[in-house]
Amino acid sequence: MRKKWDGQLYYVDLFAGPGKSLARETEEEIDGSPLIALNAPYAFAGYFFVDSNREVLDVLSERCKSHPNFGRINFCLGDCNSVINDVIKDIPKRSLSLAFIDPTGLQFKFATLQKLAQRKVDLIITFPDGMAIKRNIKKFLEEPHSPLDDMVGDRQWRKFQTAKGIVGYYRNKLPTLGYQEVRLGDEVRIRSFSRKLPLYLLLFASKNLLGHKFWQEISKINHTGQRKFDFNGFSNLTF
Ligand SMILES: C[S@@+](CC[C@H](N)C(=O)[O-])C[C@H]1O[C@@H](n2cnc3c(N)ncnc32)[C@H](O)[C@@H]1O
Repeated sequence: MRKKWDGQLYYVDLFAGPGKSLARETEEEIDGSPLIALNAPYAFAGYFFVDSNREVLDVLSERCKSHPNFGRINFCLGDCNSVINDVIKDIPKRSLSLAFIDPTGLQFKFATLQKLAQRKVDLIITFPDGMAIKRNIKKFLEEPHSPLDDMVGDRQWRKFQTAKGIVGYYRNKLPTLGYQEVRLGDEVRIRSFSRKLPLYLLLFASKNLLGHKFWQEISKINHTGQRKFDFNGFSNLTF
């Protein structure tokens, strides 16, 4: 499949970050999503690294500068909800893409997802059900218009009133954009290292069932208690 799409696979990182982060527990410097994508075993035809912070994007650019595929990177400064039109217009219609959507809170609007879904784009979304939603839900319910309305794309989430219900509602909206059903249980729970508090869920969505098969395979927990997420899995996702 990868051969079939050779040269037509794109990677879109809408909350790219500076390319490295420090693991709080071990103080080890680890690669962020853009560098992981850049160093995946198969090169993408193009990379879109979006960040709203100029300094962050400059640091990322500096870190990518000596990479052999630097010339394939588009650095986009701005709110991803505003620059999405520029990103989409540079993704060829017949290509496949993988988008990683990793906000710190509720910044990613459903209207932006609707635009992205105009292309064949598999999604990995960090869904901030713990910190950003659970903690603030009471406040959001009292607001005439809350950031959650924009993130979910309407006000219907109010019927559910719990973070779990809202995740379910969001998951069920993805097929309206042409995605396969995102099955309950396919999401990956990410917790804080020390207190094991739920932080966010990793949601995967694809328009192709095969994508879900790959996701289930790489996100399985093996006998050592580790997940099999690896770079091969990462670059296989868009098959
Ligand atoms: C959680 S970090 C991303 C981490 C990165 N994905 C990684 O694996 O290292 C979120 C980044 O999104 C940027 N950001 C926040 N709001 C944004 C927006 N509306 N559009 C684009 N970038 C945004 C922040 O500047 C920050 O660098």
